[in-house]
Amino acid sequence: MGTEPQHAVVDGDACLLRMRGISKSFAGVVAVDGVDLQVRAGECLGLCGENGAGKSTLMKVLSGVYPHGSYGGEILIDGVPLHAHSVADSERAGIAIIHQELMLVPELSVTENIFLGREIRRFGGRMDYPAMHQRAEALLRELGIDGIKVGQPVLYYGSGHQQLIEIAKALGKQARLIIFDEPSSSLTATETRTLLAIVADLKRRGVACVYISHKLDEVAEVCDRVTVIRDGRHIGTQPMAELDTHRIVTMMVGRELGQMFERKPHAIGEVVLEASHVTCLDVVNPRRKRVDDVSLQVRRGEILGIAGLIGAGRTELVSAIYGAYPGTWQGELRIDGKPVRVRSPQAAVRAGLCMVPEDRKHHGIVPLMGVGPNITLSVLGHYARAGVIDGNREAHAFHHEMRRLNVRASSPMLPIASLSGGNQQKAVLTRMLLPEPKVLILDEPTRGVDVGAKQEIYRLIFDLAARGIAIIVVSSEMPEVLGLSDRVLVMADGRVCGDFINDGLRQEDLLAAALALPHRIENA
Ligand SMILES: Nc1ncnc2c1ncn2[C@@H]1O[C@H](COP(=O)(O)OP(=O)(O)OP(=O)(O)O)[C@@H](O)[C@H]1O
Ligand SMILES: [Mg+2]
Repeated sequence: MGTEPQHAVVDGDACLLRMRGISKSFAGVVAVDGVDLQVRAGECLGLCGENGAGKSTLMKVLSGVYPHGSYGGEILIDGVPLHAHSVADSERAGIAIIHQELMLVPELSVTENIFLGREIRRFGGRMDYPAMHQRAEALLRELGIDGIKVGQPVLYYGSGHQQLIEIAKALGKQARLIIFDEPSSSLTATETRTLLAIVADLKRRGVACVYISHKLDEVAEVCDRVTVIRDGRHIGTQPMAELDTHRIVTMMVGRELGQMFERKPHAIGEVVLEASHVTCLDVVNPRRKRVDDVSLQVRRGEILGIAGLIGAGRTELVSAIYGAYPGTWQGELRIDGKPVRVRSPQAAVRAGLCMVPEDRKHHGIVPLMGVGPNITLSVLGHYARAGVIDGNREAHAFHHEMRRLNVRASSPMLPIASLSGGNQQKAVLTRMLLPEPKVLILDEPTRGVDVGAKQEIYRLIFDLAARGIAIIVVSSEMPEVLGLSDRVLVMADGRVCGDFINDGLRQEDLLAAALALPHRIENA
């Protein structure tokens, strides 16, 4: 009963990029199935589809990650066939990609990452660091970012800053076509505005862009046309002027979606988790406090949202509570009134605390292990008899869990790293629910997740709250914080600067609180 493919007419000659009948399979599983796509110079094309629809795969075909010969179909740049055998080949053809998963080398400095593979050299071949630093600084300035020292290794920066560095790196390549694969997933509102302004500017300079995002309001704002794919197939391409976000969603999922937040009445009970006077020192510069004397309480069945800008200390706070903060920290923790010492995530899980981390690539998953085993990893002991794992019981459990959250993978033994971004997130979430925690901490739970999956995750969070689990949700998406939370804490500069009961609370209230500190005022 599919929607008939709709094609907006594009004058063939004016196209910078033409992809015709692109197909790509992995071990016999079709990820992209005969997709056509065109982009003109100076145009931004939105590429939309559910998690696992094939967007990233299609763009990896274009950018040479999957070399010529490993996919079907044809790519033309200015009408000339492109046979890229590597990323370097596609870069020479003027294509740059900002990958969905951060690809920076953590140990190298910001400058070295930005110039990786195209270092500026002096006569004699030595690297010209002053010139590269200067250029890197200029790029970051262009992006309107401060607070990044270009000589510092990238690992000192959180995922928000890393994403900005990644964007700077792509811009530095002076490409004719730039692919943005979920560029704003770790950015807050202010930085996203900067990003959208940059895309608008690129368009004015005649650069072509492909913009992939689950944040459809961004797509609506910056894209001229939108191509929707579903299950690897092209569903339609239309000018944005003839679309709205609602229509895009319907094309993406093939049906109408209901209410995003179906709040269920849930009873809020006694205090389960109490954290007092938590202070976290910066890993690099211990004189700086990332979290400064924060105390909080969460009750049974309560959903506590934590809002704030990047660098406000939210992730540091919840990592400390979960025993995963890499630096020095102090503070007291009580669960059900009893003091607990949580010095590692394992200890946290034993105490009844689970966390789904923001950066799943580094803390959430074992990349090359199957999806299924990744899910049951934290509770392997449950499936052991006399110390031996009962493989059948374990398999039964992960099959069940994968169905429950609709984790899409051709097999539970497929390495989790090869799943689409959103499906990885669902798998990590599923895994943390298995130990039946008293307190569940979710750091950016729907980052990179499509609208349908978001709805599933929200429903699950309300269900868990109704079952009496105390939940902390850290999120940069204001609608998400407001839609989920019973109570909202706003953090800025490591401190709590607002504590609200969510009764008709508005985005403006949260923003005002986050920006209230005098040295924080920005002209966003
Ligand atoms: N290296 C791989 N090996 C096996 N299967 C893969 C591999 N890469 C992608 N896939 C599969 O191909 C399909 C498309 O994945 P892709 O990453 O392109 O989706 P996506 O549209 O980018 O989704 P998301 O919005 O979640 O990022 C998925 O079913 C995924 O599991
Ligand atoms: Mg993707």
